[in-house]
Amino acid sequence: MIINTELENKGNLFPSKIIDFKKDVDKLYFTADNDVILELTVVRDSLLRFRYTTVGNFKNDFSYAITKYASIGYNKLEIEEKENTYEIITSKLRCEISKSDMKISIYDAIDDVLISQDERGFHWEESYEHGGNVVKMSKVSRDGESYYGLGDKPNHLNLKGKRYSNWVSDSYAFGKDTDPIYKAIPFYTGLHQGKAYGVFFDNTFESSFDFAHERRNVTSFWAQGGEMNYYFFYGPKMNDVVESYTDLTGKPHHLPPLWALGFHQCKWSYYPESKVKEITSTFRKLQIPCDAIYLDIDYMEGFRCFTWNKSYFPDPKRMVKELLDDGFKTVAIIDPGIKIDKTYSVFQEALENDYFCKRADGDYMKGKVWPGECYFPDFTNPEVRDWWSGLFQELIEDIGIKGVWNDMNEPAVMEVPNKTFPDDVRHDYDGNPCSHRKAHNIYGMQMARATYQGLKRYSFPKRPFVITRSAYSGTQRYTSTWTGDNVATWEHLWIANIQAQRMAMSGFSFAGSDIGGFAGQPQGELFARWVQLGTFHPFFRVHSSGDHGDQEPWAFDEDVTNIVRKFIEIRYQLLPYLYTAFWNYVDHGTPLLKSLVLYDQDDVQTHYRTDEFIFGEQILACPILEPNAKGRRMYLPKGKWYDYWTDTVVKGGREMWVDADIDSMPIYVKAGAIIPKYPIQQYVGEKEITEITLDVYYKKGKESSELYSDANDGFDYTKGRYSLRNFSLSGKSKQLIINQHKEGKFDATFQKFNIQFHGLPFEISEIYLDNEKMEIEPFDSEKGQSIRICKNFSQLHIKGKEVIK
Ligand code: GLC
Repeated sequence: MIINTELENKGNLFPSKIIDFKKDVDKLYFTADNDVILELTVVRDSLLRFRYTTVGNFKNDFSYAITKYASIGYNKLEIEEKENTYEIITSKLRCEISKSDMKISIYDAIDDVLISQDERGFHWEESYEHGGNVVKMSKVSRDGESYYGLGDKPNHLNLKGKRYSNWVSDSYAFGKDTDPIYKAIPFYTGLHQGKAYGVFFDNTFESSFDFAHERRNVTSFWAQGGEMNYYFFYGPKMNDVVESYTDLTGKPHHLPPLWALGFHQCKWSYYPESKVKEITSTFRKLQIPCDAIYLDIDYMEGFRCFTWNKSYFPDPKRMVKELLDDGFKTVAIIDPGIKIDKTYSVFQEALENDYFCKRADGDYMKGKVWPGECYFPDFTNPEVRDWWSGLFQELIEDIGIKGVWNDMNEPAVMEVPNKTFPDDVRHDYDGNPCSHRKAHNIYGMQMARATYQGLKRYSFPKRPFVITRSAYSGTQRYTSTWTGDNVATWEHLWIANIQAQRMAMSGFSFAGSDIGGFAGQPQGELFARWVQLGTFHPFFRVHSSGDHGDQEPWAFDEDVTNIVRKFIEIRYQLLPYLYTAFWNYVDHGTPLLKSLVLYDQDDVQTHYRTDEFIFGEQILACPILEPNAKGRRMYLPKGKWYDYWTDTVVKGGREMWVDADIDSMPIYVKAGAIIPKYPIQQYVGEKEITEITLDVYYKKGKESSELYSDANDGFDYTKGRYSLRNFSLSGKSKQLIINQHKEGKFDATFQKFNIQFHGLPFEISEIYLDNEKMEIEPFDSEKGQSIRICKNFSQLHIKGKEVIK
């Protein structure tokens, strides 16, 4: 019997009183007299790990989620034994462990406010079906507490009152209430009284989370096997919690090539070659920027991975090169199912080397996918991953494919009731052999990892680009992702917005949806609104299934084409801004999208908002999610904001109506921001960038902004060949000063900044560059006064004449 509820079963067992305590450097062991041991690790001052066993000893400690690069070490660790408790004190946290029942309470070490408290705490139930334990944890949920995160759940951003489970599943045309879907990211952030904390339940078995759903004052989580093993992060800022979780489970190993942040066009499927060329040449003819074109399963011979259908694609190498000459990078799909075919070399090699997954009784795991009956490599075996990565040599090194798209890696199996492997399938699990119950949620992650290794090997010195459908915590280290087979409906546009934000606050920012919807066909209006939203998603790809008509930017009417072009152009202009934000994500784990609650958790108005979000650090976007809309009501966070289209300055901290006809959407820029922009290009690298525009949004007061640049591809940046410019702006009524601080050894191709002032309340009379008066004539640009200056200034000082009325 699968236990669906934390309460349902009466057979719960609990730790008894603590009879022993031992310390081993950063690990503390508390032993109860019924063989329960709590291993508490002080990872950092604000990060504690709690791990329990019920049998008196721990199994090998192994996790796919935790990166070896995670930062560890604390400034303070004091342990005190009191009459009824043990107290563990770091510089950030005070943790109390009750001697009588092992319950945990965690306090802010500075103001001693309670952050989190066990309700029943750790408990478990014997699972007769599996001969192991269902491990459970319950914590007190306080009035006014909110919950966020958990990966790709397609429902309201705030998880309070809901229950979810994690078991990665192929979910064609999923709905708002479908659960689980493709990803398993058992991490959430709780927020109460202005303090945020995070919980990461690193257990790959099917797990469940209940956020005050079953019992109003209890939040619980449990798994169908494995250990109760969770990490507790303390903020108190939500952004710090997300960064800390991302540090532990891994930031992306490197920046994506800049082209991967451009626009991607995909369909199931573009074939033959003439169709692919027709699509790409139409982009160029209509001057709609695009960087990537996708080949779905029909490029293969009988859906055999690493083969080509030579009647559709007679000379893939030539085609890929011709596409590249026109600026298109080709991305190809690769699935895990390997067709059972003795004449097929990939099958033969895997069979000979014993790389396929087997059932408990020794037979191969056989299942139907696109090619018919298949066997499946065991990606949890490092030798198999190594072999798999080698299979990419021809595709990448010889043919010139630039990115690989991993699909069906839940793994999806057709025509069986559970749509995946049966539980008894065996896995190596990197030398910790186990059944599919434990390996299911990480199978897709390990496939994407092996693919990433292949791309890294054969694309070098260029950066690899991988996309995956299935993911567990930590998958963000290797790959980008999309949200799977959605539907062309307005509700799905709402879902796409939530999923991208939720993924970002679950450490996985490089995500996007199938723009326009995978199943069904959108009307032009929905398509246009979806491209508008996608403009502000880190992964920006149109994709749709073959059977529902066309979904290219020109498949609707001319107005739609023009709107789509306009927004894709905005994306291309914002590339240096997005790239800078991406650098912050790779360097610090800073989420690329910030839901309003993450941006300003102290404003309770933000706790239940779902639609508005911050793109990067300083741009606020809010999609239009309904048909026939001429605008919408939205909430602007506190502070002053410039309307992106009109430069009107509005005061935030309130909800307001914003006009946004079909060719527009609500976009605001934070006052004081300096937004770097590229000229419009049809693809990354089309033009040599000689000048970057800096849109300077005047503010009375101070604000700082950044611009990161490097070669836009390759790994030289890891050796210091990048440049990071910090701009600090300081505005007064008749002057504006911008100080620039630069670090890094990279000398970008651009030589000049075209500085465009927005909202300057005075007419420029004098300009000083590094304390020297310059004879520069300001000129009028679209939105105000502009000047053109050399990029390497330290200080720009503008003085004003009279106030412009
Ligand atoms: C799955 C994928 C979809 C892809 C299709 C064919 O449904 O989610 O994106 O187009 O398979 O490969």
